[in-house]
Amino acid sequence: MKIAIDGPAGSGKSTVAKRLARELGYQYIDTGAMYRALTAYFLDRDITNETDIEPLLVTLNMDIIPGGIRINDTDLTFQLRTERIDEHVSYYSSLKSIRDWAVKRQREIASQMDVVMDGRDIGTVVYPDAELKFYLKADPNERAKRRALERNEIDNYAEILLDILRRDQLDSNRTHSPLSQADDAIVVDTTKLTIEQVVRFMKDHWDEKTAKTTV
Ligand code: DC
Repeated sequence: MKIAIDGPAGSGKSTVAKRLARELGYQYIDTGAMYRALTAYFLDRDITNETDIEPLLVTLNMDIIPGGIRINDTDLTFQLRTERIDEHVSYYSSLKSIRDWAVKRQREIASQMDVVMDGRDIGTVVYPDAELKFYLKADPNERAKRRALERNEIDNYAEILLDILRRDQLDSNRTHSPLSQADDAIVVDTTKLTIEQVVRFMKDHWDEKTAKTTV
């Protein structure tokens, strides 16, 4: 089964997706980390134009390693959650050639497996036929607080909030695969919910789904 979890930055996607995958014994795939790794790879080489990026994509091998990502044998894990990547990832992930490459790789990795995949376009583009789709949302102030706590940077709350609002705007308004809610997604407002409550809610839907399909 494919379970798609989409939503904006800080909505709690990756935390709940990881836990849900663990509970169900499914593979967890963090597609945001893939866009982050591509951003790190090209930024490190000062490559910003899509015309320069496109021919290089065929030379890339991306491997998902425990807790991180490697591209062509370079481990980019330690860079993924840095401010530098936060700043540039919306630009790189808006490029059509990058999206086409990443979506293809996501489908390759997930084929033949039960997965929980989180991102912005999983239920709409990557797996429009996913059996279960969730769309998580939360108040921006709460999302910024979570990010700040997660990174142990509570003093940077105001900047983190601005970055979240900026990325919401860019990710929702880009031409190719913008952040959007699939019509058949189950919407969860996580503002006032604990991680456990969200995971339980999702698990209940999974139970219901699998009970129906096994009858
Ligand atoms: O979930 P995240 O904050 O790690 O994602 C980083 C960026 O990657 C986000 O600003 C938008 C982009 N992204 C995307 O465009 N499509 C996805 N499926 C996942 C992430």
